[in-house]
Amino acid sequence: MEVIILSSPKEVEEMGGRILADQIARKADSVLGLATGATMHGVYHYLSLRHEKHGLDFSKVRSFNLDEYYGLGPHHPCSYHTYMCQHLFERVNIQPENTRVPDGLAQDVEAHCREYEAAIEAAGGIDLQLLGLGEDGHIGFNEPSSSLSSGMRIKTLTPMTRRTNQRDFPPGESMPMHVLTLGVGNIMAARRCLLLAHGAKKAPAIQAMVEGPITAMCPASMLQQHRSCTVVVDEAAAAFLQLADYFRCVYKHKPEWQKVNG
Ligand code: F6R
Repeated sequence: MEVIILSSPKEVEEMGGRILADQIARKADSVLGLATGATMHGVYHYLSLRHEKHGLDFSKVRSFNLDEYYGLGPHHPCSYHTYMCQHLFERVNIQPENTRVPDGLAQDVEAHCREYEAAIEAAGGIDLQLLGLGEDGHIGFNEPSSSLSSGMRIKTLTPMTRRTNQRDFPPGESMPMHVLTLGVGNIMAARRCLLLAHGAKKAPAIQAMVEGPITAMCPASMLQQHRSCTVVVDEAAAAFLQLADYFRCVYKHKPEWQKVNG
């Protein structure tokens, strides 16, 4: 696991955007695993600008989102499908038929999950999986106690995640209790993982993920076993890392070309 510590949330989001842009530039038909949430706003903004100003070409890119609220249709204003359209899909030249977000209205959840996994497989697997981190250590919506080899399935959100994400719903509208999410096993199958986190609230989860034991109580800790995982955090999120100075030293002495390529 490579840990890159930068000074500000903006730098974290821009670095995330640069790594994704570099992936697309190197492989035009990249298969991207995408995430939503506040951390990704700046990432998608960066990618939209790279498309608009420098012609970054998404025409052959295929994408699979990690998760969707169960019970929300694609056009619901708070669905992750709507989020993706607003933040990325409508701002770049990605082909709508090349984008997938789990169907929050799927009647047969089991069949939908198996079909979604098969579609990822048919696309050749995920080249680069973008991840945020929950304060409770979740990736995707694999909450604490999730199987570390799990596949896609329906999950119940923890009260902490529901409290945090309630901010995305208008006052008076309570958010769903369930989500469809790719599992930890699906995430581990990606060829490269890129996890971004910033802010003091993420510091305990970052420390547990990077330096704690591999445990289902912090599903993100499974990324210690991933053969190519880059973690980009700001100083506030890195505050509890015992090896912070070592991580800074490693990054400082990396050759310039390797700083984005991993
Ligand atoms: C969302 C997702 C979640 C978020 C995580 C962090 O698609 O997969 O794991 O990445 O909850 O969310 P923010 O960035 O809002 O702190």
